[in-house]
Amino acid sequence: MERTNKQTMKRYEEEAKKLLKEMTLEEKAGLLSGSNFWETKGVERLGVEKAMVTDGPHGLRKQAGSSDHLGINKSVPATCFPTAATTACSFDTELLERMGEALGEECLQENVSVLLGPGVNIKRSPLCGRNFEYFSEDPYLTGEMASALINGIQSKGVGTSMKHFAANNQEARRMVISSVIDERALREIYLAGFETAVKKSSPWTLMCSYNQINGEFSSQNKKLLTGILREEWGFEGAVMTDWGAVVDRVKGVEAGLDLEMPYSGPDNDQAIVTAVQNGNLDEAVLDTAVLRMICLLLAAKDGKKPDFRYDAKEHHKLAKEVAAASCVLLKNNDMLPLEKNKKLAVLGEFAKNPRYQGAGSSRINPLQLENLCDVLKERNIDFTYAPGYSLENDNAEEEKIKEAISVAKEADAVIVCIGLPDSYESEGFDRDHMHLPESHIALLKEAAAVNSNTIVLLFCGSAVEMPWLSDAKALLLLYLGGEAGASAAADILFGDVNPCGRLAESFPCKLEDNPSFANFPGGDLTVEYRESIYVGYRYYDKAEVDVLFPFGYGLSYTTFAYDKLTLTKEGEYVKASLCVKNTGSVAGAEIVQVYVSQKNSSVFKPVRELKGFAKVHLNPGEEKAVEILLDKRAFAYYATEKSDWVVEKGEYTVAAAASSRDIRLTADITLEGCESGSVVQPMSYCSLKAPLSIEAKDFEILYGRELPAATRVSGEPFTINSTLGEIAKTQVGSALIMQMKQQMASMTGGVENSDDGMERMFERMMGEMPIRSLSMFSQGTMGSAQIQGILDSINQESC
Ligand code: BGC
Repeated sequence: MERTNKQTMKRYEEEAKKLLKEMTLEEKAGLLSGSNFWETKGVERLGVEKAMVTDGPHGLRKQAGSSDHLGINKSVPATCFPTAATTACSFDTELLERMGEALGEECLQENVSVLLGPGVNIKRSPLCGRNFEYFSEDPYLTGEMASALINGIQSKGVGTSMKHFAANNQEARRMVISSVIDERALREIYLAGFETAVKKSSPWTLMCSYNQINGEFSSQNKKLLTGILREEWGFEGAVMTDWGAVVDRVKGVEAGLDLEMPYSGPDNDQAIVTAVQNGNLDEAVLDTAVLRMICLLLAAKDGKKPDFRYDAKEHHKLAKEVAAASCVLLKNNDMLPLEKNKKLAVLGEFAKNPRYQGAGSSRINPLQLENLCDVLKERNIDFTYAPGYSLENDNAEEEKIKEAISVAKEADAVIVCIGLPDSYESEGFDRDHMHLPESHIALLKEAAAVNSNTIVLLFCGSAVEMPWLSDAKALLLLYLGGEAGASAAADILFGDVNPCGRLAESFPCKLEDNPSFANFPGGDLTVEYRESIYVGYRYYDKAEVDVLFPFGYGLSYTTFAYDKLTLTKEGEYVKASLCVKNTGSVAGAEIVQVYVSQKNSSVFKPVRELKGFAKVHLNPGEEKAVEILLDKRAFAYYATEKSDWVVEKGEYTVAAAASSRDIRLTADITLEGCESGSVVQPMSYCSLKAPLSIEAKDFEILYGRELPAATRVSGEPFTINSTLGEIAKTQVGSALIMQMKQQMASMTGGVENSDDGMERMFERMMGEMPIRSLSMFSQGTMGSAQIQGILDSINQESC
């Protein structure tokens, strides 16, 4: 993997070193924490300015007034682009780079120096509440999309904070859980996307995750923050915490953590000063962290353009282009594109109030939110709208359905807008199932019963089960399409744009088919990643499990033929060359996917893995040559016993495919790699059986040591890492929660979108918060002594 972005922090090092020499110990410690919720500190007397950081990732959530990290208080209006779950389906790095440039421009106008994103965690389970903010189940695609976005943003002189580093694949107990992962899966699946983006796009900063990895919090994980990130990958930027992720501040500095966000009061800065004074922290280690912070602040100062103004109209247009390139046409029984003179029924509240982004810290206040009804009106389409369900009620409402049926009966075709409401998936908690609300399904079924020309427009942030699929004659997946998703969808429905999005995650037939099902979300202490490297299609293909829609799948209004796949060695690389032809009657784009497999591998491996892709635009009848370079890593696996990537000597198959289950051409190549090693491999990983059930003893062999306890022994004292959910049954705990709820209610009182769903969401989010987060929740007014006092009374009460 080549380092392509040379604009690293190193260029500020000389100046930073001079400034460092002038700083007192207190100033140094102080510089390593924020000054408030969204700003770092500066060193005024030395002319080092503070910098503002802001969420992210698919738009700007700059809070000019009251601050929070839960998406509660208002932020300045900004363009809301589609979320990562959506944009990943474009498989279009050039487009993501342009989206990044636009995000960078919005940061410039708002004087924001670092955008908190992209989110690069892997979709291990469809249930993860934050999947909408992540790209894919595949690390190669994740890394490529993240790099492109980062390069775009940073090209404007604005930094990024790739997050959440690492292995943060669930919201349940996200601030305390230990992700128990074997080294090979960690490297091949959970770190690989971060690695690609660090090497290809040098993000200014990285945000460490809340969770622990194999028993150590990311915020103080030296192997992760120094060993892997800096020494192996060459990361030169600064590491900041996720909001409130610090557990032991001094240990964090020692491990390679630079900036604590947000400001949590004076205790942690003081702890650093004391540790240096009493010899528990080497001042040179502190200096290294401070140096990185000064470099960041100098880069931020350099990048500022206070008079810059972005073109909001252009950004809206781009948001539409991104959404249109990312929609995935999943089913089309001669139904789409629609003729513009047909009489339509448009059903479902989402047609008026779309779900277009996710809930939580990434929630943007959109500049210009579209909805399908308005878009159709503007285009003079003849349609009648009926809401069909209400967003506040999951149960079918007879009156609403009746009205919808009468509208559907009169129409030539019906567009049914259904999906997941905010209360179903959000940052802060995971889903319990993969179903749509009953009210949405009832609407579709009743509409399809009276009009078979039924098109489903699906709004959701992650895969859903579709027992209702046969009721849809066509199905267009919009995911969360951002502020211009409605006009993008309309363009596709009427054939102005030919759909070309491809799924960046598999859609299993049912939740139980997912390889993490038996081990998600784990116990209250750990979650075991027993499926190891078999995530998403890596599992479904190996265990030959039927899926509803495979990874990489998507339909077009035209057809493509693949021909003449050849492989040639070019130095370090293998070049895959092929021809792709548009064999239909309309222009379109094909996503050519390249998967690699090894024949007779001595270690267990997936059947195939994505290692390259290209988007090819073709007019009817046009044919183009496509070349995709595969580097050494494309053929390598992570050999734990060697602590290195290894290409085994032997024969490999390279496939050109239209999805992980639609292999069009294959070619073989022999590589001179290493001789096969002899590694102990449990049989259960060599030939997979569905449903996947890996015994603890087999996983322990991969893990290489004894598995830690998954649940807390009952009766053990609570700690600062116990969650509010856990202490809810104690009197002190429940009083505390009540007080916090009141505080939240007063905050949400001011929110436009505040509703029942939002309240439910906050309640669940709060249950996942550890006691130590009280300092952040109180915005630094509650110190560690007070929190310890609360903890002591809870423990006294429960003993
Ligand atoms: C989220 C981060 C976010 C931060 C600031 C945290 O709760 O996990 O993704 O950047 O808040 O809002």
